[in-house]
Amino acid sequence: MLNGPVTIAKRMLNPSMLRAIRPTYYRLLEVARRLSEPAITPLPAKVHRVPQLRFRLDFFHAAQIFLQVNRIDGSYLEFGSHEVNTFRMALNTIGTHGRPNKISHFYAFDSFAGMPEPTGIDKQKIWREAMNFTSEERFRAITRRDAYRTTSVKGFFKDSLSQFELRAGHLPALVYIDCDYYESTKDVLDWIGPYLQHGTLIAFDDWDCYFGDDARGQRRAFSEFRAEIAERLVFTNFMKIMSGGMAFICIEKDKIGTAFEGT
Ligand SMILES: C[S@@+](CC[C@H](N)C(=O)[O-])C[C@H]1O[C@@H](n2cnc3c(N)ncnc32)[C@H](O)[C@@H]1O
Repeated sequence: MLNGPVTIAKRMLNPSMLRAIRPTYYRLLEVARRLSEPAITPLPAKVHRVPQLRFRLDFFHAAQIFLQVNRIDGSYLEFGSHEVNTFRMALNTIGTHGRPNKISHFYAFDSFAGMPEPTGIDKQKIWREAMNFTSEERFRAITRRDAYRTTSVKGFFKDSLSQFELRAGHLPALVYIDCDYYESTKDVLDWIGPYLQHGTLIAFDDWDCYFGDDARGQRRAFSEFRAEIAERLVFTNFMKIMSGGMAFICIEKDKIGTAFEGT
């Protein structure tokens, strides 16, 4: 679109003048590109003030770099969306426009009725039934600018996931599991397993809950899952999320050491 003026400028200006205007030209081009892109739901206002949120945002930036470098396309799937903090971080990192990889869709799975009642090993002082409640209407209102690429799936995972299938082209690029309990995480992992691909990032927001006990919470659910899926997938550490989470890269065993370049 702006090539015309550049060609004219090239004819009229000498090389040193051209060199001088080049940075301004590229800056204007970048502004024009940004203005033509759809606006993204802004980050929560408190994100830079609250360390727990800042640490999570650091993770999303790192995930964006990993997915871009490896040209991983697909979707973002979040299990536990509540105040829409992490979901907005995903939109503003892996969801920014004009990147060489494309994260085309963003899924929020939540009861939108708050936490289920904690039972057995999921009981801890901080958990109560129905806490962390955010309605689906509120979620949709907050994310309205991104409605064209967002799907919310309402219901407790054990009911909602059994009836849900991911569309072709929406395989997970990043899975963010923020539902605290062993039982909830287990329901998610049982469903997501077959969809995980070479290079998918899988993050556990609540890795350090339950005193960091490997036999409870997300640590237990993931350790059981790893054993069950070991024939097809292995996992390599991606990074510690400094707010108490942990993230891994999924590796398909039959692609290890091959010349696989991506799908
Ligand atoms: C800690 S909050 C998520 C916070 C959110 N990621 C944020 O950044 O604002 C946990 C969420 O998990 C949801 N949740 C937990 N267990 C669930 C289950 N079994 N089925 C559906 N939703 C569940 C709760 O409704 C709650 O919204």
